[in-house]
Amino acid sequence: MGCFTFAKCVMVVVSLLIFVAGASMVAIGTWVHIDGGSFIKILVPFMTNYIRHANVPVFFICLGSVMVLLGILGCCGAKKESKFLLIMFFSIIMIIFISEVAAGVIILVYSRDAKDFLSSWALPGLMTYGKEEVFTDLWNSTMISFRCCGFNNYTDFSESYFYEQNGLLYPPTCCRTPAGYPCVEETALFSHVVGCYKKIVSLVQRNIILVSAIAIGIAGIEMAAIAMAIYLYCYLDDKAT
Ligand SMILES: *[C@@H]1O[C@H](CO)[C@@H](O)[C@H](O)[C@H]1NC(C)=O
Ligand SMILES: *[C@@H]1O[C@H](CO)[C@@H](O)[C@H](O)[C@H]1NC(C)=O
Repeated sequence: MGCFTFAKCVMVVVSLLIFVAGASMVAIGTWVHIDGGSFIKILVPFMTNYIRHANVPVFFICLGSVMVLLGILGCCGAKKESKFLLIMFFSIIMIIFISEVAAGVIILVYSRDAKDFLSSWALPGLMTYGKEEVFTDLWNSTMISFRCCGFNNYTDFSESYFYEQNGLLYPPTCCRTPAGYPCVEETALFSHVVGCYKKIVSLVQRNIILVSAIAIGIAGIEMAAIAMAIYLYCYLDDKAT
């Protein structure tokens, strides 16, 4: 078997895998979107609050659709030896790859300013906690999942809509008291519930190896796909002339 035939086979198999993964994501996303997540509820109880948001399934559906498209382009491009389809496949993966690298660089370069940036977005928003449902729900999910309170600490909720509407109480996650007990300022102070920013940052730091491994793995697969598309294209180009 020649090099070209081998590369063609690998390309077809990899594209089929991408296609199947993408199609599954579309299917699960659609199911959750329609069904409201009763299936996910069984699998990952703590994620139910996130999954309930319309955006998460829609994100899955979009990502899955792009993967389905890539799978079809790669598979047909290799099987039919079509330079046009290979170019399309190459362009889409290249765009994704460049955006990921750009996002990675921005995160690395600006990670020191991340806290200021995020707090300038989160703190004013917390004032409307209890008023805007989507935002409140997002914070509820985050605080319950990560067992944290506010951005820095419970004081972020002082002067919030929730605080004023509920007779100067903080959200229940800000106190380590049995459910039903009111979360007043004193209890919140003594509970020392960590702010969500600190909690999430330390979670990422503790799992930094896993996070990097996933990032490197994804980048590796993309580079391999890019290299393969270039190889097939050049081979077909040579053959044509
Ligand atoms: C968020 O949590 C608070 C406190 O438990 C609750 O009163 C509120 O109804 C919840 N809001 C949403 C949108 O889930
Ligand atoms: C809450 O966080 C703010 C901002 O980081 C800080 O100034 C304040 O001292 C903290 N309060 C308590 C009670 O931890």
